[in-house]
Amino acid sequence: MSTHWRHMLFATLSCLVGASAAAGADRTVTVLLDRAHPGARIDRNIFGQFAEHLGTGIYGGVWLGSNSSIPNVRGIRSDVVAALRALKVPNVRWPGGCFADEYHWRDGIGPADQRRRRVNANWGGAIEPNTFGTHEYFDFLEQIGSEAYVSINVGSGTVQEAADWLEYMTADTRTSLGRERAANGHPQPFKVRFLGIGNESWGCGGSMTPEHYVEELKIFSRYPRNYNLAQADTEPMQRIAVGADDSKNEYIEAVMKAWHERVWSWDIQGVSLHSYTADHFPAQHPSVQFGTTEYARMLKLTLRMDDLIAQDAAIMDRYDPAKKLALAIDEWGIWLAPLAGTNPGFLVQQNSLRDALLASLNLNIFVRHAERVRMANIAQMANVLQAMIMTDEGRMVLTPTYHVFRMYVPFQDAASIPVRIDAGTYVEGAVSLPRLDAIAAVDAAGVTWLALTNLDPDHSARIDVMITGLSARSADAETLTGAHVDAVNSFAAPSTVAPRTLRAEARGGSVALELPPKSVSVVQIRGENR
Ligand code: AHR
Repeated sequence: MSTHWRHMLFATLSCLVGASAAAGADRTVTVLLDRAHPGARIDRNIFGQFAEHLGTGIYGGVWLGSNSSIPNVRGIRSDVVAALRALKVPNVRWPGGCFADEYHWRDGIGPADQRRRRVNANWGGAIEPNTFGTHEYFDFLEQIGSEAYVSINVGSGTVQEAADWLEYMTADTRTSLGRERAANGHPQPFKVRFLGIGNESWGCGGSMTPEHYVEELKIFSRYPRNYNLAQADTEPMQRIAVGADDSKNEYIEAVMKAWHERVWSWDIQGVSLHSYTADHFPAQHPSVQFGTTEYARMLKLTLRMDDLIAQDAAIMDRYDPAKKLALAIDEWGIWLAPLAGTNPGFLVQQNSLRDALLASLNLNIFVRHAERVRMANIAQMANVLQAMIMTDEGRMVLTPTYHVFRMYVPFQDAASIPVRIDAGTYVEGAVSLPRLDAIAAVDAAGVTWLALTNLDPDHSARIDVMITGLSARSADAETLTGAHVDAVNSFAAPSTVAPRTLRAEARGGSVALELPPKSVSVVQIRGENR
C-alpha cells in the first residue's frame, strides 16, 4: 500500500475512533497504530534511575560491604543487581540530589576503614560512612550493566574540586590523579556518560538566583573536563544544567538564553526539570490504605507532567529550534507521606498498583515528547520514594513500579509510532480522567510494541488494535493488575502485584484483547508488512 493510501486509511479509521467515543465502558475500543509514520526514537535514557545517599537507598539497598553474610559481590548486594539487570537500567544518577551539593569525592576513595565519616545533614542526620564512593559506584554500574550520571557539587564545592574529580575518574595513568585511581584499584579510566552541574541550585543546591547559577554554570561546564579519550568521539559526556523547578521556569529560561548567546568556551547538552507528584510538602498523601478517590486524585495530578514538559519545551524551542539540547526530567515520581514508624528524613513509602499506573502514565508522556525528552530518572531506585526495590536486611521485594519498568524494556531505543485511541473518560467524583492511555513503538527487529494503561478501576476494556502498514499474525501480551488500587507487594506476599500473561488474539490482521480494570499491559505484535 502506498504511503498516501496508508495515510488516508489512518485518517479514515481515526474518524471512526472519534465517532465511537461516546459509547459506554462496555464497548470495544479501537486503537490505531500508524507504523507508516514513525516518530522520534525513544531514548533509552528516559528509563534512568536515581540513587542518592538517602535513608537506605545506598546503604542497605545497594551496599552491604563485603563482610556481610547477605550474598554480595565486592560489597554490592547480588539480589538487587540481578533485579536491576532485568530492567536494562540505562543510567544511574548519583550521589544526589541534595546530597550531591555537600558531597566531597575524596571522602569516598582509598582504604574503606580510613574514609571520613560525616553527618548526612540533608537526610535524617544519618552518619555517612563514605564506604560507597566513586569506585563502588562504577563497580555497581558494571555489575548491573549501566552508565554513569554523576552530579557534581556546585553548592558547597569548588570548581577545582569538581575538576579534580573528573580528572581522577577519566584521566589515564600518565597523570597523578590517574595514577592515584590506579593505585586504588582501577587503572582504566572510568566512563562518565552524563554530568549534572549542580542539583536544584534554586533550592537545596545553593538557593541561587538564575543569573548567579548561569555564571556558575559557565565555569563548571568548562573546567571539569572529561579526559577519557576512548569515549570522546563516539559517546562524549553530556552535561546537564539545572532547569525548572516544577512549574517555575525562571531557571530554564535563563539557562537557555545564556546557552543561545554563549561563546565558544562553554557548552551543555541538556537542561533538567524536577517534578514530583505531590500537592503538598511535606508530603501528606498516604502510600497505603487508600481508595479510588485518592487514586484518581493522584493520577490526575501526575498528568500535569505533560503541561510542564510542554512549557519547558516551548522555552527550549525558542532558543534551540534544532532540539540539540535534551530536556532531562532527572527527578520524577510520586512523593507520599513517610510510612509510620520510619525516620521521616529517610523518605520511606509503600509502592502500590496505583503507583505502577502512575509510572506508566509518566513514561507515556515522556515518549510522546521523545523529540525533546531524552533523559529521565525516577526517584529513587531502592527504598526511597517511588522505589523499584525494597529491601530489609537479607530480604528484597520488587514493587509494582519495578514491573512497569521491566515490561517497558522493549521500548528502549525503539521508534515511537502514533497512536489514536479514544475510550472516553473515567469519572471519580469531581475528577475526570482518560479511561485509557497508550503508546506504541517499533523496535530494531521490526516488532511492534503497544503499552496500554486502563485507568478505570472497575471496568475492563475490550480492545481492537489496527495497524496501518502491518497485518498482525501473532500477539503476546502481559498485564499488571491487582485486587485493589492500593494493592502492594510485601516481604510476606511479594507477588500480590506481578505481571501475568494476558490473552491476545491476532485475527483478520488486527489484534483483540481485553484489558483488566486498573492495569498496565504491554503487547508484542508480529506480522507482515502490507
Ligand atoms: O529525591 C529526594 C530529593 O528531592 C532530592 O535530594 C532533591 O533533589 C529533591 O528535592
